[in-house]
Amino acid sequence: MPTTQSRGSTNPFFEVDEDGIGWLTFDDPNRKLNILDEPIMRRLADALDSATSRAADGSMTALIVRSGKDRGFVAGADVTAIEAVEDPAEGEQASRLGQEIFGKLEALSVPTIAAIHGLCLGGGTELALSCDYRLASDSPTTAIGLPEVMLGILPAWGGTTRLPRLVGLQAALDLLLSGGRYRARKAKRIGLVDEIFPQELFNEKVKAFAADRADGKPPQGRPARKLLTRLLDGTPPGRAVVLRMARKQVMKRTGGHYPAPLKILDVVKRGGQAPQAVSLGLEAAAAGELIVSSVSKNLIHIFNLNEAAKKGLGPLDGAATSVRRLGVLGAGVMGGGIAQLAAYKGIVVRMKDIRHEAVSGGLRHARDLFEKAVQRRRLRRREADQHMELISGGLDYESLSGCDLIVEAVVERMDVKRIVLRETEDAVRADCIIASNTSSLSIDEMSEGLKRPENLAGMHFFNPVHKMPLVEVIRGSRSSDRAVATIYALALELGKVPVVTTDRPGFLVNRVLGPYLNEAGHLMADGASIEDVDRAALEFGMPMGPLRLVDEVGIDVSSHAGESLHKALGDRLDPSAPLVALADTGRLGKKGGAGFYRYENGKEAGVDQSVYAALKSAVPSERRTLDQKEIRGRLLLAMINEAARALDEGVVARAADVDLAMIMGTGFPPFRGGLMRFADTIHLRTLLSRLQEMEDVHGQRFTPAPLVERLAAEDRGFYDAFGD
Ligand SMILES: NC(=O)c1ccc[n+]([C@@H]2O[C@H](COP(=O)([O-])OP(=O)(O)OC[C@H]3O[C@@H](n4cnc5c(N)ncnc54)[C@H](O)[C@@H]3O)[C@@H](O)[C@H]2O)c1
Repeated sequence: MPTTQSRGSTNPFFEVDEDGIGWLTFDDPNRKLNILDEPIMRRLADALDSATSRAADGSMTALIVRSGKDRGFVAGADVTAIEAVEDPAEGEQASRLGQEIFGKLEALSVPTIAAIHGLCLGGGTELALSCDYRLASDSPTTAIGLPEVMLGILPAWGGTTRLPRLVGLQAALDLLLSGGRYRARKAKRIGLVDEIFPQELFNEKVKAFAADRADGKPPQGRPARKLLTRLLDGTPPGRAVVLRMARKQVMKRTGGHYPAPLKILDVVKRGGQAPQAVSLGLEAAAAGELIVSSVSKNLIHIFNLNEAAKKGLGPLDGAATSVRRLGVLGAGVMGGGIAQLAAYKGIVVRMKDIRHEAVSGGLRHARDLFEKAVQRRRLRRREADQHMELISGGLDYESLSGCDLIVEAVVERMDVKRIVLRETEDAVRADCIIASNTSSLSIDEMSEGLKRPENLAGMHFFNPVHKMPLVEVIRGSRSSDRAVATIYALALELGKVPVVTTDRPGFLVNRVLGPYLNEAGHLMADGASIEDVDRAALEFGMPMGPLRLVDEVGIDVSSHAGESLHKALGDRLDPSAPLVALADTGRLGKKGGAGFYRYENGKEAGVDQSVYAALKSAVPSERRTLDQKEIRGRLLLAMINEAARALDEGVVARAADVDLAMIMGTGFPPFRGGLMRFADTIHLRTLLSRLQEMEDVHGQRFTPAPLVERLAAEDRGFYDAFGD
């Protein structure tokens, strides 16, 4: 077996060892992860030609495809190249070329084996699918997936065609349509992987497997599928049912806004029963169409923003300290969630509260979340128990003394937070960073009276912590680089997307959401129905309508947030009468079982028609039908205009930060590419004149932001003016 690494030599590197086993090793000397860009694909084609000759002359009896990296197999195709394609014919051609190259691998006359250790995604998975066998290491880093759908395209180097043929229709659709990643065990369960071997012995085991196949020994059979699965996957009526159900689910999940999953269904449907070559042709044609779509370009834009966020803060990163011990003040909804997440990532956590019941509540919350992960097979019970053991709690400050960072998540009151922070400062090491999870209070005000205000910055998680990907990192005027960089790095370690903001009211997301939610109230005051308002947002692609969102957040919480934004930012945020009236009714929204909607057992059960009467004079007695376009325009322009002000004030540095934060923090529809990118497609001059028209009708809340006026005059867009 070749023990010498191919690092620095040709990538991929092909050699045949003394036992006649061929090794095709991917090890890109210039990248941390292997990807398949054009030059590498060309060299792969050459290597496969050599392998074909060696197989033909009998000097190679099996071929192993592997990676020389310790962290990953092959992470996919080159996204930059995909993004650059503007012509469908070019996209189709690129797909055909990849298919031809992988076809050489499939056509080899000797057994071919993909040895997968670490991340195997997209083109990497398609490469593996072109082999006869796939072996996976048992490392927790091993994960196999086809994320193309998340970039608005489909696996078009044979993946859409080969996967259903290998694992059956239903299992294939699950992977293709979700864009998810499977750990080795799950991949084996569906038949995507043949064997799992221990990481320590991986190369030896893989070689032994290859030698056995070369000797003609039959492998262990693949798991037998259940009768029902076979009936559904293998008969025309069964397939029709599966495809119909899958389509229905796609439509429900995407509202039809995303063409890629529908195309995948189409290719699988038409190609599934056709000869492989026909299916590959359909795949390539679909790739050509999808790759040039605006949805794909927008999704790739967001992918790039995410990747950039993961890269860190550049020169500032050096200042970050690693957090191994975390303290959490306040074991409530947020504190419990933060503790669970940190423990899940292997960090030792100490929670502190002022009440025993709260501590046990926080621990219970964390345990419930681990329990769910076990039920969903994300974790084994033993692993969950080990993670849970990392969390402890109590009422004393002393046990925080060894912490590297403290997240403060006590009640949202400045007086309480100030006292708590001062007490904490006395209990912790001098270099301990303190991160406040406040959603609305000023970090600067909070730091007054602290001995080491430079150690304080904001770390604003969103609720529920384990689900919401955004963390706003709030830099107060006295926060040190070390505080900001440490919190940013911790957020990344927790798997979140951090966006740095300055210490302005509402930071970014809540500030931009404020006028949007408020406008929903104004629309009701103008007679619009709850259904009409929420439908306009849903049809635009928001995950839920604004009124449903008010219920979700809690009417008390959003009313409080609305008031503080109003106080801080002025009359354009004067709360709309229906929202004020609703808060006065004492309804709490989802958590109380009633708001704009009714909730039964925590599930939404339709609009509560009695709410109109409860809002009394704040809404007209009769509903009237407002044009959906008008509703949508008012909701969106309210957000865009506020985001423009925030950008102008330097709350975030770039238009892309607004977009990333709104997508990750509110579910702003990714296929639109982000709020500012969407606004740029309207063009600033049109945006300005629409705002002016609305100002004429509705008053100052639509007064164009000075930035919109300036950019319209210069005929520039947000991205142009606030790019990198
Ligand atoms: N709930 C949300 O949706 C959400 C979202 C983002 C941020 N936040 C912020 O997170 C913070 C906590 O919110 P929550 O929803 O978890 O509140 P919560 O009421 O569920 O929990 C607050 C906890 O703090 C404890 N506490 C009060 N005084 C304390 C003290 N002196 N020392 C230690 N513990 C103390 C309380 O006993 C309680 O257990 C607030 O600043 C809030 O604005 C909340």
